[in-house]
Amino acid sequence: MGDTVDEKDSFYSNAEKYWRDITPTVDGMLGGYGSISNIDLNGSKAFLQKFIGEGEGKAGSSCALDCGAGIGRITKRLLLPLFRTVDLVDVTQEFLDKAKTFLAEDGKRVAKYFCCGLQDFVPEEGRYDVIWIQWVIGHLTDEHLVEFLRRCQSGLRPNGLIVVKDNVSFEGVVPDVVDSSVCRDMAILRNLVRQAGLRIIHEEQQMNFPKEIYNVHTLALR
Ligand SMILES: C[S@@+](CC[C@H](N)C(=O)[O-])C[C@H]1O[C@@H](n2cnc3c(N)ncnc32)[C@H](O)[C@@H]1O
Repeated sequence: MGDTVDEKDSFYSNAEKYWRDITPTVDGMLGGYGSISNIDLNGSKAFLQKFIGEGEGKAGSSCALDCGAGIGRITKRLLLPLFRTVDLVDVTQEFLDKAKTFLAEDGKRVAKYFCCGLQDFVPEEGRYDVIWIQWVIGHLTDEHLVEFLRRCQSGLRPNGLIVVKDNVSFEGVVPDVVDSSVCRDMAILRNLVRQAGLRIIHEEQQMNFPKEIYNVHTLALR
């Protein structure tokens, strides 16, 4: 993640190039780890169900936003079963095109497909009960991540919730030159969340993932 304008531009354009060459499948979305998708989605469902539904302070179930949605892996099995409508945003047009068939009949309840980098995306104010951001924050610079999280906060309905689920490093910022991303440690991530004016109301580590991959943490933010 570079500091100069040129380095920032190539950080984003290299990532776009990388994803344009990836097959639009669950395995492609998960870097060859398609087999962990079920464990991931079951963990996410248990996490999200703590915060939505009836009762004081719970988020509603009318509309969710899937950020860095890819082909809609999360929309299909997590968000469409829990929300009346879902919007998807991703920088790769081919993935959003694939989502239209991958989501099948339930895809009729997708209201909007946005082809846009999250660094430029402005969620509609007050539209979303849940904004789900998974395995994509490493593609944003610190500054853009903080600004994006702030815009997400404005996109929430009353009692709405932002969820970030992503890899965390053991220590520091670990760059990945292959897909042009970074992996941050929890202290850095917590600091960026604070800078965005958000609070971590709950945090869990995803269990039962293969030992050789990064730890994955899920954060509920308000
Ligand atoms: C590891 S995949 C994860 C897809 C999905 N979140 C999932 O878990 O199945 C990363 C996704 O982020 C998208 N992406 C990469 N950089 C992005 C950016 N700057 N803004 C929006 N989406 C981006 C890619 O096109 C790809 O679909």
